[in-house]
Amino acid sequence: MSETGRDEPYPPVTEHLDDPEAAAEEGRRKMEWALQHMPILTELRAEFESERPLDGQTVGMAMHVEAKTANLVELLAVGGADVAITGCNPLSTHDDVSAALDANDSVTSYAVRGVDDDDYYAAIESVIGHEPTITVDDGMDMVAAIHEEYPELIDSILGGCEETTTGVHRLRAMDDDGALEYPVFAVNDTPMKRLFDNVHGTGEASLATIAMTTNLSWAGKDVVVAGYGYCGKGVAGKAAGQNANVIVCEVDPRKALEAHMEGYDVMPMAEAAEVGDVFLTTTGNRDVITEEHFEKMGDGVLLANAGHFDVEINLEQLDEMAADRYEARDGVEAYEMDDGRRLNVLAEGRLVNLAAPIALGHPAEVMDQSFGVQAVCVRELVENDAEYDAGVYDVPDELDREVAEIKLDAEGVGFDGLSEEQREYMGSWQHGT
Ligand code: NAI
Repeated sequence: MSETGRDEPYPPVTEHLDDPEAAAEEGRRKMEWALQHMPILTELRAEFESERPLDGQTVGMAMHVEAKTANLVELLAVGGADVAITGCNPLSTHDDVSAALDANDSVTSYAVRGVDDDDYYAAIESVIGHEPTITVDDGMDMVAAIHEEYPELIDSILGGCEETTTGVHRLRAMDDDGALEYPVFAVNDTPMKRLFDNVHGTGEASLATIAMTTNLSWAGKDVVVAGYGYCGKGVAGKAAGQNANVIVCEVDPRKALEAHMEGYDVMPMAEAAEVGDVFLTTTGNRDVITEEHFEKMGDGVLLANAGHFDVEINLEQLDEMAADRYEARDGVEAYEMDDGRRLNVLAEGRLVNLAAPIALGHPAEVMDQSFGVQAVCVRELVENDAEYDAGVYDVPDELDREVAEIKLDAEGVGFDGLSEEQREYMGSWQHGT
């Protein structure tokens, strides 16, 4: 019997689908479209194909299984790795893409959309059953499961890579407790990821998904953005660009001031609740919108979350307050209060740009950058594993720059370099006026 108490390991996606071949064909089409817009992965693919830097490695992944991620998976496979993957959110998997991946001889995909909690963790366990030598996570669930349930594997693991802010927070907390037993790159924190994926990706994809899911306009709406970090900044900027009036809620006084100086209204959620039409949480924290706020909201408000876990909007409290609850549209659940107000929750409060029924995740060009960093970090773990003890590591600057240069080259954008004199000047303290 497995650690999750099941008699049989959770099977690959093909065993869950009626027609896996047809699904795989559709998934392949989606992957090919995305790859056409991913010049970094395309360039790395040529390098990985000829040099096979990952020969003999097994990569275990828990990520949003959709077309862009699938191209990262195949890049790692082309580089010589065997890859086992599952989802990092029960609602973000595209089954057809998962099937296309599973049809690749070097890949096994366990990701299935809509799994319950038991199956979600059983699928992670199936990935771990491949005995990964490298892990690639989005949210840290794979690292946690290995440390808690399969510590005997840790000696043979070279290291891992973490994709998102919440995962990096969890890893740093684990490291502070002395509990993290292998090296992990904080891919999220590197400029080529965070300045683009979190800001532009989350901004564009969340707003597009909300508009498509509701068929409503942004123009003239009061849009409340909770959290003015990288993601919140992106959401606020894009919403303002669509003629919404943006209100920011923050707990960090410097971030609140930054939002104020950038021209947004800033106020506590208790006040914003009274005026907002749309509420979007991007904090990575829990209980950002709760009962006291629901009580003040007007009829018809939209509530959505773009943070990693579905804990930012307290749906248990909302459920308790509601007299009735029904599906208003695909991906929109209306909670009707005693006084007739309807509060509409999108994508079950899960990260809206990936979990709504029509969600496609971030644009391909953005994920090209994030996944380019992932790929070079996996390569680094194999090539230089002796340099990394257990702990959380920043992505080495030269790797981040390598990915930026590939992208600029693909875009045909030239940029300057430092002269020797400039380099020396920048590195010296012995100069003044
Ligand atoms: P960040 O750390 O840059 O920003 C979070 C901000 O929220 C901080 O400024 C913090 O002060 C603020 N905050 C915390 N608690 C708050 C509260 N109760 N009320 C108001 N503000 C509060 O983090 P980042 O990179 O913006 O990520 C935010 C979340 O989004 C994370 O969970 C991350 O994993 C997730 N994420 C989601 C993506 C998506 O595709 N939807 C993409 C990238 C990240």
